[in-house]
Amino acid sequence: MLENKNIVLGVCGGIAAYKSCDLVSRLIKAGANVDVIMTENAANFISPLTFQALSSNQVSVDMFKEPKYWEIQHISLAKKADLVIIAPATANIIGKIANGIADDMLTTTVIATQAPVMFAPAMNCNMYENKILQSNIARLIELGYYFIEPGEGRLACGDIGKGKMAEPSVIEGYIDNMLNNNRDYVGKTIIVTAGPTREAIDPVRFISNHSTGKMGYAIAKRAARRGANVYLISGPTALDIPKDVFFIPVHSAKDMQKKIMEHFDEAHIIIKGAAVADYTPAKACDQKIKKKDENLTLELVKNPDILYELGKIKGDKILVGFAMETQNLVENAKEKMLKKNLDFIVANDLFTEGAGFAVDTNIVKIIDRNGNVESMPKMSKHQLADLILDRIIKL
Ligand code: PMT
Repeated sequence: MLENKNIVLGVCGGIAAYKSCDLVSRLIKAGANVDVIMTENAANFISPLTFQALSSNQVSVDMFKEPKYWEIQHISLAKKADLVIIAPATANIIGKIANGIADDMLTTTVIATQAPVMFAPAMNCNMYENKILQSNIARLIELGYYFIEPGEGRLACGDIGKGKMAEPSVIEGYIDNMLNNNRDYVGKTIIVTAGPTREAIDPVRFISNHSTGKMGYAIAKRAARRGANVYLISGPTALDIPKDVFFIPVHSAKDMQKKIMEHFDEAHIIIKGAAVADYTPAKACDQKIKKKDENLTLELVKNPDILYELGKIKGDKILVGFAMETQNLVENAKEKMLKKNLDFIVANDLFTEGAGFAVDTNIVKIIDRNGNVESMPKMSKHQLADLILDRIIKL
């Protein structure tokens, strides 16, 4: 429910604006107060009066029209908002906000607010795939804005592709999740692993991988926000330590395994987002290896497969793994899930743009023990974190 929540809905000029009427009535039914701000272009598609009637509030279009209230309106709405949702969000509004432009009621409100801001884009598929738009979206996600992925299908212009605004029921679900700050993990202890491991060759060199920790940290942060007691066991990253988690820095796979085992008994759930090195040098030299011969051969030995070992003793704990693949994503991930005795596995493909290492988004398939494979659209790692936590709580 959204009782006592103040939601500012920004409506931009696109045919999907008609769906926003349904969104307003859903939010009102859920108990929210909705203030609608329309761009001037939006008012060409749909009358402000429609939103006024649905929301029982004045609708803002023109910043310089006589103010209806004594406050400066874009500031008062920005302050009052618990959440700003822009639906439909056009390429134009995304571009403006990504570049700090504030030249109308909606953009000034967004720039002035401290509330979370969500975008539900809707546009032609070629516009959506445009690299400038995609880099604006990536920039906004990096700055902490939220995006609700558009759907695929036949668009209003007749083209077939990605660009349909998410359905109002889906948008309502995201809003509900965001505002209700679910405390469904109170009393649960979770171990989350994140980042790469570093396997020492000598005091100055190591073997590692490209993991930045973004995925694992997003899970740890969201779980803590939902009330969990979180142990974040992390390889070296450049990220800030999240608030409200017990942070345990580690280097090698063996360190990581040791720290997990120290907290294993307490944990109800273990999520292994870390990219663990499968092999480690047979012996790390005490001194820096000197340059001598043309070739240098390093002997590598297998690291423990931490997740496999956990799978053997998991009992009724929930065990979730990730799989990073470069080929046969589903088959390989399925095999790992069964071999490691996981409840489900989250599979990402290195070669898919917007997925995997270092980026702020991910595109994954979630595979469960019954063989169900669910393909998820591109979403921020924080959104994916919530989705994974939603699944776990259902288990
Ligand atoms: O950190 P980011 O930059 O945000 O990138 C995120 C990510 C790509 C690292 C993350 O989404 C991801 O896929 N993590 C798992 C990467 C990986 O090691 O995949 P894998 O397929 O090699 O391993 C499968 C699972 O077994 C993983 O859960 C891994 O933690 C675990 N494993 C692997 C080897 C090993 N020796 N011990 C393990 O526990």
